[in-house]
Amino acid sequence: MSAVLDGKGPVVLPALLLCDFGHLAHEVDRLEQAGAVALHLDVMDGRFVPQLTYGDVVVEAVRRAARVPIEVHLMVEEPERMVAGYAAVGVDVISVHVEALTDPGRTLREIAGGGARAHLALSPGTPVESVEPWLDDCHGVLVMSVEPGFGGQRFNPVALEKLAALAALREARGGTFRLAVDGGISTETIGPVAAAGAELIVAGSAVVRSGDYARSIAELEAIARSVL
Ligand code: DX5
Ligand code: ZN
Repeated sequence: MSAVLDGKGPVVLPALLLCDFGHLAHEVDRLEQAGAVALHLDVMDGRFVPQLTYGDVVVEAVRRAARVPIEVHLMVEEPERMVAGYAAVGVDVISVHVEALTDPGRTLREIAGGGARAHLALSPGTPVESVEPWLDDCHGVLVMSVEPGFGGQRFNPVALEKLAALAALREARGGTFRLAVDGGISTETIGPVAAAGAELIVAGSAVVRSGDYARSIAELEAIARSVL
């Protein structure tokens, strides 16, 4: 199911955070009809970030409703306590924050052992050096271009330097990890992140607040491809 995440060229993963949670299955269906090839689900615990969203019960319901691959972005304290549960639900990617982990290598291996792809996320203030020791243990690195916690924030350009640095590290080491970016993606910022190497590009408000999911996804992907 995850082959689309390995394909050539950047793809947009709509984030559900700002969608209508009163009609969640309908929103999933709308996004798929609009051409979304994968979905990004933001799990927030009210501790690692101030907001509280949903947990594995709701993710499992989305998994049943969706046909496309699902990424779960865990913005939680002690993510190691819950990765096995999300892997068991059958999500395709589990992204965990390096800032929240005591033993990143172990948690990444546990995610992979549970059958999901293990992505390591880093917040804007966290340097690339903090994920470097774990690059061989992960399938992807999720570079945050906003402070985790809320949709609709302004893009932080520090992400561009980090994506470029990670792309160079991957090249130098012959690595295979994917480059992902999350936060503040718009028609203005998607070109620069794609040019810097981002392949899995999360877009929340740019899609969900656009009023036309299909047009916004197509427009974002067209811009991302045009810069390569
Ligand atoms: C922020 C979340 C993002 C958010 C993206 O904490 O991780 O996934 O939903 O929303 P936009 O694209 O509006 O910044
Ligand atoms: Zn996210």
